[in-house]
Amino acid sequence: MRILVTGGAGFIGSALVRHLVSEIGAEVLNVDTLTYAGNLASLKSVESAPNYQFLRADICDRARMREAFASFRPDIVMHLAAESHVDRSISGADDFIQTNIVGTFSLLDAARHYWDGLDARYKSDFRFLHVSTDEVYGSLGDEGLFEETTPYDPSSPYSASKAASDHLAIAWHRTYGLPVVVSNCSNNYGPFHFPEKLIPLMILNALEGKPLPVYGNGANVRDWLYVEDHARALFTIASRGRPGEKYNVGGRNERRNIDVVHRICAILDGVYDNKEPHARLITNVTDRPGHDARYAIDASKLESELGWKAQETFETGIEKTVHWYLENEWWWRPLREKVYSGERLGVFKGR
Ligand code: NAD
Ligand code: DAU
Repeated sequence: MRILVTGGAGFIGSALVRHLVSEIGAEVLNVDTLTYAGNLASLKSVESAPNYQFLRADICDRARMREAFASFRPDIVMHLAAESHVDRSISGADDFIQTNIVGTFSLLDAARHYWDGLDARYKSDFRFLHVSTDEVYGSLGDEGLFEETTPYDPSSPYSASKAASDHLAIAWHRTYGLPVVVSNCSNNYGPFHFPEKLIPLMILNALEGKPLPVYGNGANVRDWLYVEDHARALFTIASRGRPGEKYNVGGRNERRNIDVVHRICAILDGVYDNKEPHARLITNVTDRPGHDARYAIDASKLESELGWKAQETFETGIEKTVHWYLENEWWWRPLREKVYSGERLGVFKGR
C-alpha cells in the first residue's frame, strides 16, 4: 500500500506517519514544507526506515504536486497539511487562506489529474482522505453533539478556511467522481504537540514556573482525543471509508479548560511533591475573540460502520502526555528557545 501523507512533520501527521511506517508497514511519502510547526525531529524513530520517504514541498505548488503523484504513484492520499492554530489565524489569516484553501485545491487538482490516468480497478480503489476539524460546525450550547449532518457554522478564520476546504473536497467527489472521504475530529493531545496549544503550553509553563493563561473564565469545553487514537482512526477511514462520506472522530472526553489545567497541575504536583502547588500559577486572561463555547463529537458512525474505538481515556492519555514532556526535553527545549516561547497570540485592540 502506497500512501502519500501531507503535513507529516506536524503533530498529528507525524503520529500518523509513525503508525503507517511502523505498525501498518505501508510505503509512505511525507510531503511537508516545514513551516514553524513542521519538525523532522518528531519522525526520528522512522527516518531511516526503508518504507519512508520525505519530500520538502509546498502543497500550493501545483506542478510539484503533480510530479509527486506521478513519481510516487499513491494508492491513498491522506491530506493533513494546514495552518492549524486558531490564535494565529486571528492575528493574520493570509497563510490559512493560502495553505488550507488554495493548497487543498492544488492537491485535489493534482490528485484528479493522476487519478484520471489510472486503470479502472486502481481508479475505484484510490482514496483521498481530507483531514478536517470539528470546528467547522461552530459552537454548541450545554446540550447536544456534532453529527456528520450538523450544518457548518465556523467562527474563526482558521475554521472558516477548513470549512472551505471541506466543501472543495466534497465537490471534487460530486463533480469529478474523485473518491474523497472527509474526517472531522475533535481536539487532539499527546506527544510531539507544538507548545502553542493549550495542553503542551500549560505543561511547559508549569514546569518553568510561568503563569498558566486561561482564556476568559475557563468554562469553555473541548472534547479531547489522544493523538494515536486519531492516527488509527485516520487509517481506518482512509482504507475503509465510503467515498463521498464524512466521518466524525472523537473519544467522548469532554472537559472544561480549567479542569484540564487543574489536572495537569495535579499530575505535576505528584512528580515534584516538595514544591508549592502548580495551580497557584493559573491566571485568567482576556478571552479569545469569537471563542467557541463547547465542542462535543458523536463518533457513532465511525464506531458502528468501521469498528474504530478510542483506546485511551482522558485520564490515561493526559498522564502519558505529561510524562512524555518530562522525559523529552530534547524535543521541546529548542522549540521554546528558538521557535515560540509562549507569548500570547490572537488578541487585538478593540476586543
Ligand atoms: P500542525 O500545525 O502541527 O502541522 C501542520 C503541518 O503541515 C506542519 O508539518 C507544516 O509544516 C505542514 N504544512 C503547513 N503548510 C504547508 C504547506 N503549504 N505545504 C506543505 N506542508 C505544509 O497541525 P496538526 O495539529 O497536526 O493538524 C493536522 C491536520 O489535522 C490539520 O489539517 C488540522 O486542521 C487537522 N486537525 C487538527 C486537530 C488538532 O487538535 N490539532 C484536530 C482536528 C483536525
Ligand atoms: O477542535 C479541533 C481543533 O482543536 C483543531 O482543529 C485545531 O487545529 C486545534 O488547534 C484545536 O483548536 P482549539 O482552539 O480548541 O485549541 P487550543 O489548544 O488553541 O485551545 C484549546 C482551548 O483552550 C480553547 O478553548 C482556548 C483555550 N486556551 C488556549 C490557549 C492556547 C486557553 O485558555 N489558554 C491558552 O493559552
